[in-house]
Amino acid sequence: MIDFRRLAALFVALVTASPALASADLARSKNCIACHHAERRMIGPAYTVIATRYAGDSAAAGRLAERIISGGSGNWGQMPMPAQTNLSREEADVLARWILSQR
Ligand code: HEC
Repeated sequence: MIDFRRLAALFVALVTASPALASADLARSKNCIACHHAERRMIGPAYTVIATRYAGDSAAAGRLAERIISGGSGNWGQMPMPAQTNLSREEADVLARWILSQR
């Protein structure tokens, strides 16, 4: 039986050790890269553009983490973002903060 708490703790340790690298790997493993690129608009907005829009908004990280999990529409255009159900709230927080740091 896999101990998910241990895994989560390990994950947090890894992320703290090397935030940018671990987050890029997480975005890859959760398939965000199918629709997002750091600097180019693909199906979804570029991370740098998202970070610029929410710069100075201290509530942005929590809100984006929620939107990553439940999906969103109408914020960036016609194309909706489907709910990403394959990641935990912790992982969504990590990804939201990482995206917001890309300015
Ligand atoms: C099937 C394509 C697709 C995938 C997969 C996808 N996204 Fe998105 N994402 C979009 C689209 C389209 C939008 C714009 C939605 C809108 O206009 O509200 C978006 C918007 C966003 C936003 C901005 C939300 C806002 O309200 O401003 C963030 C942050 C984001 N995505 C992160 C992620 C992360 C992290 C992952 C991986 C876990 C991911 N996305 C996977 C298509 C995708």
